[in-house]
Amino acid sequence: MPERVLLTGATGFVGSHIAEALASAGCEVRCAVRNTSDPRWLSGLKVRLVRADFGRPEDLARLAKGADAVVHAAGITRARRPEDFYAVNAGITRRLAAAAARAGARRFVLISSLAARGPDGEDGPVSHYGRSKLQAEQCLREFGELRPVILRPAAVYGPRDRDFLPLFRLARSGWLPVPASANPLQPVYAADVARAVLLALRKDGPGPFPLAEEARYSWREVAEALEAALGRRVRPVRLPTAGFVLAGRAAGLTARLRGAPPAFDERRARDIAVHAWTCDPSAAERALGWRAGVPLPEGLGHTAGWYRREGWL
Ligand SMILES: NC(=O)c1ccc[n+]([C@@H]2O[C@H](COP(=O)([O-])OP(=O)(O)OC[C@H]3O[C@@H](n4cnc5c(N)ncnc54)[C@H](OP(=O)(O)O)[C@@H]3O)[C@@H](O)[C@H]2O)c1
Repeated sequence: MPERVLLTGATGFVGSHIAEALASAGCEVRCAVRNTSDPRWLSGLKVRLVRADFGRPEDLARLAKGADAVVHAAGITRARRPEDFYAVNAGITRRLAAAAARAGARRFVLISSLAARGPDGEDGPVSHYGRSKLQAEQCLREFGELRPVILRPAAVYGPRDRDFLPLFRLARSGWLPVPASANPLQPVYAADVARAVLLALRKDGPGPFPLAEEARYSWREVAEALEAALGRRVRPVRLPTAGFVLAGRAAGLTARLRGAPPAFDERRARDIAVHAWTCDPSAAERALGWRAGVPLPEGLGHTAGWYRREGWL
């Protein structure tokens, strides 16, 4: 296991779980944070925060100096403008990898996304987000000396996540709108993603390795799991696909008019109602010895407990 690890994105949802896992594994962790970052999820962890502007080459060089490995989890999953996806997700990956190679790092773990592969039945990404993540992966081909490992988590859920929170809130009301399409769900618990990172630091890749639970769930099973997690009856209400997509388009438009990156938009609505996002995670098991350890009902239970303790639910 590399001793000194530079971690980006540690102030975010997925990155904070990685920070926790790296610190527990005894790594010397430096978390690259921005001036505007909120480090609340890192308080109490044995990690060092290093302020940096990812747009400044000298800051990236300073960050990379002395790191045996880089875990790059910084990225955006929503943006006001398509070009922001490419500038952040691909642009920062390329510059950070170049800085890490110059500084002599010997491992680069990229938190990519299943969106870089695209949904079932497509032979590539179908969104700007997915294309930007694929570009980020492709950048790493130029940096073989970093022995890159690419992880492609499916939808990640767990404590601190805000994307699944509306689902819990709706379920708590007793009614859960679900798409009429029968696409199965195959998410992954955040702590399992963090465990994959620890393994990726030890084993060779390059991947890309899809990360998801092996099991696939129907919306009915998700509703039942939420029922158990929330301790109340949850009735699924099937909505036609077109209604879901329309709601997404309206939400995206409203957010854009407000000048905010949309939390729910047409892309997310299509991801839920039109596309299926299943994958075979066995390559990660063969190469890294990774297998998801937390089944959805258990993970939703932990997550609901955390939301309640934090007053989010
Ligand atoms: N959530 C999922 O379901 C999921 C699934 C697959 C892959 N992923 C990948 O996991 C990574 C983290 O996603 P997340 O859901 O944890 O998102 P998140 O909670 O929004 O966290 C994003 C992190 O990236 C940092 N960041 C964003 N823009 C940056 C920039 N321009 N310069 C430097 N740092 C920047 C943020 O820093 P600040 O705190 O300063 O904003 C934050 O630490 C992303 O690469 C995403 O593609 C997520």
